[in-house]
Amino acid sequence: MADDNLDRAARNILHANDRGGYTVPNGRVYPFQWNWDSAFVAMGFDRFDRNRSWTELETLFRGQWEDGFLPHIIFWQDDEGYFPGPAVWATGTAPATSGITQPPVAATSLRRLWESAVDAGEAGAYRARLEALFPKVLRWHRWFRDNRDPDERGVAVVVHPWETGRDNAPEWDAPGEPIDTSQVGDYVRRDTSHLDAKMRPTKLEYDRYLALVQFGRDLGWDHARIGRESPFRVADVGMSMILLRANRDLLALAEELGRTEDADELRASIARAEAGIGWLWDETRQTWCSRDLVTGRSSGFITNASFLSFYAGLRDQARDQATIAHIERIGAAVRYLMPSLDPEDPGFQMIRYWRGPVWAVVNLMIATGLSEAGHETLAHRLRDDTRTLIARNGFYEAFNPIDGTGSGGDDFSWTAAVWLAWAGRDA
Ligand code: DGY
Repeated sequence: MADDNLDRAARNILHANDRGGYTVPNGRVYPFQWNWDSAFVAMGFDRFDRNRSWTELETLFRGQWEDGFLPHIIFWQDDEGYFPGPAVWATGTAPATSGITQPPVAATSLRRLWESAVDAGEAGAYRARLEALFPKVLRWHRWFRDNRDPDERGVAVVVHPWETGRDNAPEWDAPGEPIDTSQVGDYVRRDTSHLDAKMRPTKLEYDRYLALVQFGRDLGWDHARIGRESPFRVADVGMSMILLRANRDLLALAEELGRTEDADELRASIARAEAGIGWLWDETRQTWCSRDLVTGRSSGFITNASFLSFYAGLRDQARDQATIAHIERIGAAVRYLMPSLDPEDPGFQMIRYWRGPVWAVVNLMIATGLSEAGHETLAHRLRDDTRTLIARNGFYEAFNPIDGTGSGGDDFSWTAAVWLAWAGRDA
């Protein structure tokens, strides 16, 4: 398909998945508003409907809780096609939401939307909207600082694999072992009625997901307690890098708005992360890895999240060289970068969700960082691979890194958004 047609197809997907102010990732598999999906979707809308792109983020923050927490799903309306729905989460909020969060891409998206409005000479029309959104995003970042970094290491701790957005990445296997699944009982999954089970997490993983939902529900979704007491507490390298990047982008917006105290606060968060995030460097594997907060052990897994250090703005010559060497090694082993798990790992699976497939949104973040750090050749490879995957196979949720075929849901909103915002644009 020619690029013009692909642009049109991408816009049509966003329109078709638009439920009025928010966009579902995919109408059948994910029929609600998802947190980090919406942040990427806003970047896609920004290419052709600026007002609508801002609305996506504004609607997302209408689901924010009093304490600043921003849920990973907002159930604007019920839909029997998804499990676990609002009755299982039982957060008691209006609108109904889940009780866990997701990677904080919103600040980065908001900065991009704002700069795009400035470039178009429309800053005047959007400044009030920026001023209204900024404090909400800041409150969410404070929530991370206050609830998800108990040892003040400058990392982001997750209490559920779904919070990472990389649901079944192997990094959660060992930390997931202590989760008691004996009280989960019978349940009917809906994801495997929409998609091939080979592309989805296993029954054991789902049992653990649900046990952790029960755990949070039993604690009345008290996030401070969950952060201290959950049997699953992992410093996620993906979440930590994305939060650091998001804090830098929010700082740029604070400076733009002349919010000096907020800017100082954000600088302190950034300094803490810069000082502490080295805890996630795995000296043995020579890469960035998630680390179990409970045991202190590094996961040792090289995943696509291992390559977000440039995106986070971290610079260290030796670590950067080692990271680039891994990217080049993996780039020689697969046709399409970046597989979600190192293809040399014995657990690599070409089509199983976050154990092998390529995810366009992660490619966008990795390539953005690589480009900013001056690694243009690799950044181009990521962009070209993403572009080819979409142009040849369609707007799938993810892609097989070996033969490029689509994996998971089709007509996927964030893949369409990545096309519009990055992969389908001239380099
Ligand atoms: C799912 O249900 O698979 C989602 O990824 C949870 O966020």
